[in-house]
Amino acid sequence: MKRNIWIDTDPGIDDAVAITAAFAADDRLNICGISAVAGNQTIDIVTHNALWLTELLGREDVSVVRGADRPLIREAYHAGDIHGAYGLGYVNPGGVSRQLSSEQGAAYIYQRIMELPQEEKVTMVTIGPLTNIGLLVRAFPDAAQKIDQIVCMGGSTVEGNITATAEYNIWADPEAADMVFQSGIPIVMCGLDVTMKCILRKDDIDTLEKGDDIQKLLSKMLTFYFDSPAYKGMEAVAMHDSVPVLYLLCPDIFSGEAHAMRVSCTEDMCRGMTVIYDGAYTYANRGLLKNVFVVRDVDGSAFRRELMKLLMNVRRP
Ligand code: BDR
Ligand code: CA
Repeated sequence: MKRNIWIDTDPGIDDAVAITAAFAADDRLNICGISAVAGNQTIDIVTHNALWLTELLGREDVSVVRGADRPLIREAYHAGDIHGAYGLGYVNPGGVSRQLSSEQGAAYIYQRIMELPQEEKVTMVTIGPLTNIGLLVRAFPDAAQKIDQIVCMGGSTVEGNITATAEYNIWADPEAADMVFQSGIPIVMCGLDVTMKCILRKDDIDTLEKGDDIQKLLSKMLTFYFDSPAYKGMEAVAMHDSVPVLYLLCPDIFSGEAHAMRVSCTEDMCRGMTVIYDGAYTYANRGLLKNVFVVRDVDGSAFRRELMKLLMNVRRP
């Protein structure tokens, strides 16, 4: 039986790669819906990109919902320097013909996942700031019964990428992330510990360039990364957002361990830091739930091989 997944995303170049990989695996994954969240670009841009991607992939049957236009408390901070003015690098997605669902945000996600048959659950794949999912678990606590796990790209127990201590998705909306980590729902945290080992190389981009129109568009997006200040002169780029998708498809290539996890919600240099919260003796007897499986390691060559296989095989249905 296929696994039901819901993708929460801010496309975003690596989001677009991850969404493509998920659709390429539709023999194993049933994509119930996609929600957009402000992050790499504004909510208008990322929602448009999510709609456009479903059209590109011939999957207009999958509903796309416009989510939160800004973090719960903080100002939005977009990443146009890494993802470009359109959010998809050198690709200008142009118009779309399909319509957004008329309802928006966490209420719509709730409604859709609760409509699943009674015996079915859904895995939330989150690859942007956690604003929508924070709102979902806070406003609709019974949603937790329908969610078997949240596989999230975010956080780091090593160094950060937006600050020395924090990874972008968590830093962007730390309050929402902390609410999600404290929800009690089983979480798989694919943070920078593992995602920095999950790369595509420049020659993979050349391989994509030799494919059909979908592969060529991915190549055009990814080329922008290599030209951006963050990656200039590098031979490889991390495919952060594909890690949750590959984790679901090939769990055996990953390893890690479970922890209680909190997020620093300060406004100082620790903002958005993901803190393992189960080690200190003062907390040892409080029975904190270790609901966050922190993925630490990966067989990087297997990741690259499996991701390229998915991306090269994807076709319009
Ligand atoms: C995360 O930040 C975003 O820019 C990427 O899309 C990814 O989700 C990596 O830190
Ligand atoms: Ca993202």
